[in-house]
This record gives sequence, C-alpha cells and structure tokens, in this order.
Amino acid sequence: MEKYIIRVENLRRDFVVGGETVHALRGVSFSIREGEFVTIMGTSGSGKSTLLNLLGCLDTATAGEYYLDGISVREMSRNDRATLRNRKIGFVFQSYNLLPKTTALENVELPLFYNPSVSARDRKERSINALHEVGLADRIHHRSNQMSGGQQQRVAIARALVNDPVMILADEATGNLDTRTSFEILTLFQKLHREGRTIVFVTHNPEIAEFCSRNIVLRDGRIVEDVQNTQVRSAKEVLDSLPQDSGQ
Ligand SMILES: Nc1ncnc2c1ncn2[C@@H]1O[C@H](COP(=O)(O)OP(=O)(O)OP(=O)(O)O)[C@@H](O)[C@H]1O
Ligand SMILES: [Mg+2]
Repeated sequence: MEKYIIRVENLRRDFVVGGETVHALRGVSFSIREGEFVTIMGTSGSGKSTLLNLLGCLDTATAGEYYLDGISVREMSRNDRATLRNRKIGFVFQSYNLLPKTTALENVELPLFYNPSVSARDRKERSINALHEVGLADRIHHRSNQMSGGQQQRVAIARALVNDPVMILADEATGNLDTRTSFEILTLFQKLHREGRTIVFVTHNPEIAEFCSRNIVLRDGRIVEDVQNTQVRSAKEVLDSLPQDSGQ
C-alpha cells in the first residue's frame, strides 16, 4: 500500500475580521505520497500560506480533516500538535525567521531543545551535520546579521532538517533571492528530494514548477489544477549554465 504523508479532506479555513468572513480555503482535498516534491502555486490571496500553515500544524482548520503521516490532526490537543510538528515537519519561512545576532549553529540547534531525548552533545553534532548538508560548514559561528540572504535561507533549511522530519514545508523559500541564489537553494531542495525527503514548496514563480514532480494550483481557496510533471528539470544544470557573477 502506498504511504501518504499528507491526506486532507474538504479542508476549510474561514477568518472572521470585523464581522466579515473571509473564506481563505473553501474545501480542499488532496493527498501527498512519501517522496513527492510538490509546488503550490496561485495568485496572491489564493490561500497558499493558509494551506501551508495548516499542513505545518501552525494553524487549525475551520472544517475538514487532515491526516499527517496517518494521524488525525483535528482531534489532537495543542501540546500534542506542537510535538507532532516538532518531530515530523521542517518549516522554512519566507523571511527566514532566524534569531538575530545568534550564530548559525545556535539557530539550527533550537528545535532540538524541545526534544528531551537529544543530549547536548548530539544536539551540537546533528546541527553541525545539518549545516554541512546545506553547504555552510564554513559559516557555523557566523551570526545571522553577518550572512547574505542566501546563507540565511540555508541556515533556515538546516534548522528545518535537524529533527530529521518526514516532510519539509517551504513558503516562498526563494522569494527574496536573486536568480543565482534561487537556483542554489532549488538545487539544494532537489538534493534533499533525491535523498528521500517529501517537500511542499509554495511559490509565485511558475518556472519553479518545472523542477518539481507535481504542481497544485489554488484559486480563490480552491484547487483548480493538480498535475504531475514527468520531465523534471535539473536546477544544478541551470545553475552551472548561469554566469558566475550573476547576483550575489
Ligand atoms: N490571519 C488572517 N486573518 C484574516 N484574513 C486572513 C488571515 N490570513 C489570511 N487571510 C486572508 O485569507 C486569504 C488567503 O491568504 P493567504 O495568506 O493564504 O494567501 P497567499 O496565497 O499566501 O498570498 P501571497 O501570495 O500574497 O502570500 C486572503 O484573502 C487573506 O487576506
Ligand atoms: Mg503567502
């Protein structure tokens, strides 16, 4: 039987603001199998971040079901949900959300403090490994404000990886980056995908869908398109073809 990491059924999210209700998600259903690399696209306001926040257990649905790795999220307590999120999900935010004036290593270690089974020594070792994995071995003791945007995004990705999550959720992970740095980050995501990670990547940029295995398009809180991509392009090839000094 195929293993679904995500299964959502008729997911709705209403926001009530000043007596008016915004229907951010109007009944969304889909499943994501282990090892898929999915982009979620759609115009501004179509519900992408709302959906990603629900998938990341940062928010709860108004109605509908969400099964994460087979577990119904709706019936869980706040605490259990936080633990589930910490163990199973790595979240990469558009604005990096790093602690300022704090080193790369300390930022990456953070999620492990909530995991009592990880000793201080393991915490450090795993964090250093994660920083190696994203190509930041030489910036371990640099502070957030001493790094470029692309490097900060790598720290954020290392932090998302450090708990060895079953799934990585990224909201506009390349949104603030120049072309070259975007392809570096995309190359990194493709590497993580090849290593078996399940990835859900929200983006405005239609080109990015060409580098992923499936594309889901939202419009006005509904899925209007959900297609597999059988001809996934290599971000590394594009990166290698770019002039060395573009961006940075
Ligand atoms: N906390 C909130 N309170 C009220 N309305 C909200 C809230 N969050 C989102 N919305 C509304 O829900 C709709 C979907 O918002 P969402 O942030 O999911 O869009 P998005 O697709 O991520 O857009 P963007 O591409 O601009 O990031 C919008 O109309 C937005 O105004
Ligand atoms: Mg958004």
